[in-house]
Amino acid sequence: MNKHYYITTPIYYINDVPHIGHAYTTIAADIMARYKRICGFDVFFLTGTDEHGQKVEKAAEQQGISPKELADRTVHRFSDLWETLNISNTGFIRTTEERHRKVVQYIFEKVFENGDIYLGHYEDWYCVPCETYFTETQLKDGMCPDCLRPTEKLKEESYFFRLSKYEEKLLNYMENHKDFILPEVRYNEVASFLKGGLRDLSVSRTSFNWGIPVPMNKNHVVYVWFDALANYITGIGFLDDVDQFKAFWPCDAHLVGKDILRFHTVYWPSFLMSLNLEPPKHVFAHGWWTIEGHKMSKSLGNVIDPNEVVKIYGVDEFRFFLFREVPFGLDGDFSKHGIVNRINGDLANDFGNLASRSVTMIGKFLKGKIDRPEKKGGMDEYVEDNVRRLVEEYQKEMEVFAYHKALQNAFEIISILNKYIDTEAPWRLAKEGDNRIKTVLYNIWNSLRIVAMLLYPYMPSKSQAIWNALGIGKPIDKILFDTEKIFYFMDDLGTIDKINPIFPRIEG
Ligand code: ME8
Ligand code: MG
Repeated sequence: MNKHYYITTPIYYINDVPHIGHAYTTIAADIMARYKRICGFDVFFLTGTDEHGQKVEKAAEQQGISPKELADRTVHRFSDLWETLNISNTGFIRTTEERHRKVVQYIFEKVFENGDIYLGHYEDWYCVPCETYFTETQLKDGMCPDCLRPTEKLKEESYFFRLSKYEEKLLNYMENHKDFILPEVRYNEVASFLKGGLRDLSVSRTSFNWGIPVPMNKNHVVYVWFDALANYITGIGFLDDVDQFKAFWPCDAHLVGKDILRFHTVYWPSFLMSLNLEPPKHVFAHGWWTIEGHKMSKSLGNVIDPNEVVKIYGVDEFRFFLFREVPFGLDGDFSKHGIVNRINGDLANDFGNLASRSVTMIGKFLKGKIDRPEKKGGMDEYVEDNVRRLVEEYQKEMEVFAYHKALQNAFEIISILNKYIDTEAPWRLAKEGDNRIKTVLYNIWNSLRIVAMLLYPYMPSKSQAIWNALGIGKPIDKILFDTEKIFYFMDDLGTIDKINPIFPRIEG
């Protein structure tokens, strides 16, 4: 049986225009999905859209259309962007789909039958844009503590989930799964939140209609977060493809921003425990992007459309920048200056020059054909040992989502290769007619092949372009990433003599 790997992004609110924050999480998930695939896993990668709730209802009303129509008109902004960004998701879920309504109603009823949902009254301060209730003490000068907009006092009949019952269970689960919540700072944040005690959670609404009806009481719709979180089980066939569901659950990783950490690490695992399903293995909450030092917001007019960014800088360059620039988990700042520097420095100068120098030398000195390496000498051993070590470190870092460190390892190989070329000076070997040139150029060729493979999850098209220039016709993602056999010889290579500039310099 194949190894299975299941990774998700949040499902994004349909009423927003996708920006670099949404792109960030989705690219992060794509990187892991591609990495796991070349490691031989059968990967399910789910993303989608969150289409219910009061905000969508209000926006549709203002436009004089139904909420479903609004969702139908806007969903493609997300799905089109994912295509543009070369996202390899295997599933796309919309919460307005019939398969999802069935799942939400089914689990609501199950949890109710288990005695974990009961009818009561809810009264508190409600923030409409955040769709969240706050207690008096949580408010900031009467405003929503998250978005700082006005809140309103609401009282409604509501179904409640016995969240309080899960406090101990969650703490136990966390105690036994230290890597449940990553990075560690988020783990600690949730642990101290749990120790502060949990209140039961309101899981239905009567103040608006745009949602999934509560099965045993049609005056209520299911709370949008109960609805939204369930997407993670609908998406892999909880009710309609049980075999697939069993193969992929529990989820390996929910990737989210730190804004929705609590929903994924407190509410969601409690719902799952109540359903007798296992909690996800990992929830990774990343940091927040600002733009040129400012918070991204519609009112500031500084929301960045990823479609525009990639027109200027390129898809792979954008993907690379996001993860090379900022340690995954920490906050980051997006600036033109920053992306131009990364492209010109890391990509054009370091990686691009290395690739083009190497291909040109193989073309010129070996007539475009590489040969099996012969006796080792010079820095050969050093290069081989270090490449091996750096590949292993890369893999360790990938396992814990330390993308920036994984990239550092790949770039260390690049700088070792530049040193190797300078020391071994293939042009001198050629001039002297020294046969060693074959071994040296083979080592360069092979290490470059490996670097391209390491960079493939981040820059799928550019890495493939490097492979093509190295004479390897095969798609990178059809080759298994096998550290044991990382130094091997490849047959059936095309002529290696031409390379178009893969990372052109950008004028900043
Ligand atoms: O919260 N920096 O959807 P949403 C980094 N529908 N990431 C950012 C970001 C920024 N400035 N802005 C947004 C919802 N994100 C719910 C989720 S899941 C069951 C339901 C990313 O459209 C980040 O991943 O508000 C964040 O968690 C997500 O977009 C919020 O997307
Ligand atoms: Mg949001």
